[in-house]
Amino acid sequence: MKRVVIFASGSGSNAENLIKFFHNSDNVSVIQVLTNNPHAKVLDRCKNLKVSALSFNRFAFSKSKDVLNVLKASEPDLIVLAGFLWKFPEFILKEFEGKVINIHPALLPKYGGKGMYGKFVHEAVVANKETETGITIHYVNENYDEGAIIFQTKCSVLASDTAEDVAHKIHLLEMEHFPKIVKRLLE
Ligand code: GAR
Repeated sequence: MKRVVIFASGSGSNAENLIKFFHNSDNVSVIQVLTNNPHAKVLDRCKNLKVSALSFNRFAFSKSKDVLNVLKASEPDLIVLAGFLWKFPEFILKEFEGKVINIHPALLPKYGGKGMYGKFVHEAVVANKETETGITIHYVNENYDEGAIIFQTKCSVLASDTAEDVAHKIHLLEMEHFPKIVKRLLE
C-alpha cells in the first residue's frame, strides 16, 4: 500500500477529494493530514472522514524536528501539499526528495510566488484580463512555486468572469485532475 500524507492550511476541499478518491483503493491510502492552522476546516473534514489529523505550529515545523519526526514515522511515499500556505523547510525536503508535490491554482510560472494563493491568484488573473488560466501540479523545491512541473491544464477566462467565477472553474479542474495525477505518480 502506498502511503500519502497531505498538508493543508484551510478549507481542505482538495484534501477531502483525495481522501474520498482513494477511500476504497487497494494501492493507495491517505494516512494522515497535517495542518498549520488549528481552526482549519480541513480538520472537521478529517474528523468526518475518520482520517488522522494533526496541527502544528511554526516552531514544530521549521525550527525543531517535530514535524519531520512525525513524517519519518509515517513513512509516506508521497507528501501532497493541497492548499498549504507555508514554505516547506529545506531540511524536510531533503529527507523526502522527489516525494513532495503541490497544487497551484494558476498556470505557473505565471501568478506564482509568495502571497499568490487562493483568491489572490484569481483576482490577479481577472485584473490582468487573461483569457485563460488553469492549474499546475509540480514538485516542491526550496522556492515558492518553482519546482519541476508535473501537469498543467487550462480553462478559459471570459471578459465577464469575476474572480469567484474563475475560482469555481479552477476548483472543478482541481477536483477532476489532482487525484488522477497523485495516482499516476504512485503507480
Ligand atoms: C486550492 O485552489 C489550491 O490550488 C490553492 O489553494 C486552494 C485550497 O483549497 N493553493 C494555493 O494557492 C497554493 N499557492 P482547498 O483548501 O479547498 O483544497
